[in-house]
Amino acid sequence: MINHDPVDKLLDDATNGRSILKKRDVLHFTFIPDVILHRDNELAKVTQALLPILKKSRPSNLLVYGKPGTGKTLVVKTVLSKIQKRVEKSDFPIKLVYTNAKDETTLYGLLVSFGRQLGLKTQKELPTTGLSISGVFNRLLDVIQKNSTNAVFVIDEIDYLAELISKTGKDILYNLTRANERLKTGSLTLIGISNDLTFKERLDPRVLSSLSEEEIVFTNYTVEQIKEILLDRIKTAFILGTVDIAALNLCAAMAGQEHGDARRAIDLLRVAGELAEREQSETVKEDHIRRASQKMEEDKETTALNSYPLHEKLLIVAVMRAKGSSTGEIFQAYKGLCKATRQREITQRRVTQILGDIELSGLITGKIVHQGMHGRTKKYNLTVQPDVIKKAFKDDLVLTDVL
Ligand SMILES: Nc1ncnc2c1ncn2[C@@H]1O[C@H](COP(=O)(O)OP(=O)(O)OP(=O)(O)O)[C@@H](O)[C@H]1O
Ligand SMILES: [Mg+2]
Repeated sequence: MINHDPVDKLLDDATNGRSILKKRDVLHFTFIPDVILHRDNELAKVTQALLPILKKSRPSNLLVYGKPGTGKTLVVKTVLSKIQKRVEKSDFPIKLVYTNAKDETTLYGLLVSFGRQLGLKTQKELPTTGLSISGVFNRLLDVIQKNSTNAVFVIDEIDYLAELISKTGKDILYNLTRANERLKTGSLTLIGISNDLTFKERLDPRVLSSLSEEEIVFTNYTVEQIKEILLDRIKTAFILGTVDIAALNLCAAMAGQEHGDARRAIDLLRVAGELAEREQSETVKEDHIRRASQKMEEDKETTALNSYPLHEKLLIVAVMRAKGSSTGEIFQAYKGLCKATRQREITQRRVTQILGDIELSGLITGKIVHQGMHGRTKKYNLTVQPDVIKKAFKDDLVLTDVL
C-alpha cells in the first residue's frame, strides 16, 4: 500500500531516501575549514603584523579591510588561534580577544566582553551595568597593567561600532587606539576588520591615523579561486559525485559576479543541496543553483518586507496596486487601503517621506517626472514580484483583506 500521508512521506524519504549531503555543518558560516586556499599572502601579513608580541613588544594597530566574504574573519581568527596555541603552554602573558561589533547591542557590552576575556569574570571585577564607559575602560587598562599583559583586541565589523557609540563613548575608538600611551607595563593593540570601504573616510582623521598604523587589504576572489574553495568544501560536505560540474561552475560564476564572495558561494551551494535532497534528485544540478539563488533573494526581500511597520506595509501595497503612479495617486490608493482596513491615515507629507525611505531599501524605485506647469512628481514602481509581497504579508491579519 502506498502511504500518502505527507508527514510519513517526508520521514520515509529522510530515512530511506537518497541523501546528497553527508556533513551539512561544513557549509555553515561558522565552520572553520582546515585549509584556507588562496590566502597565503594575507595569512602571512596578519601573522607578521602580530609577530612582535612573541618578542614581548607591542605590535602596531592594524586595519583589515576588503569586500564581504573575502576571508577576513577566517584569516584573522585562524592566525589568532595559532598564536594562542603556541603560547598556551608557555607563561607568555598574551591575551588575544575577539568580538564582533555587529553582535553587540551597546558599547558597554562590547567592552565588558573584552573584560571577561581578559579575566575579569565577576560582577565585582566588572559589573555589566552601572559604570561609565571610561570607568569600564579603566578597569580593562588596570588588569592589562597589573598582569603586564600584551593584549590584542580584535573588533570585527568595526563599522558597526559607529552605531553603538553614543556621545559619551565618542572618544572610545581614539582611546583604544592610543591606550598604549597610558600603560606603564603591558600593551594593547587594536585590530579592526571592516567590509565597508567607506568606513575609513568616515573616521575621525586622528583615529584613522592611529588605527591604520598598518593596513591589510583583502582582494576579491576570482571565479577560479571560488571554484577551488567550493571543491574543497564539496569533498567533505557532499557524498562523492553528487554535485554536477555544471552546477559547481554556475555557483562559482554567480558568486564571482558579486565581487567574488565566498560566503555567498557556499550559502548558494548549501541551499541548492537542500533543494536537491528534498526533491530526491541524484545530484545537485544547475537548475538547483538557479532556484537556490532565487530563493535566497526572495528570503532577503521577505525579511525586509516583514520588518516594516503597518503604514509602510500599506504603502507598499498601494504602490503595488497603483503601479507606476505618481505620489499623489499612491496617496489616494493608500487612503482607500486605510479605509478598507479601518486604519487612521497619516499625512501626505509623511507618506512622501516614507516612500523615500522605502526607496532607499531598494524594494521600490522612484523616478522624478516633470509635468510642465504642474511642476514635478515622483512615480514609484515595485522592484520585487507582487507574489513575494503577497506571500510576505499574508500573515499580517490587518492586511489579509486587501491583498
Ligand atoms: N580562502 C578560503 N578558503 C576556504 N574557505 C573560505 C575562504 N575564504 C572564505 N571562506 C569561507 O567563506 C565564508 C566567508 O568568509 P569570512 O567570514 O572570512 O568573510 P569576511 O571577509 O569576514 O566577510 P564579511 O566582511 O562579510 O564579514 C566563510 O564560511 C569562510 O569559511
Ligand atoms: Mg567577517
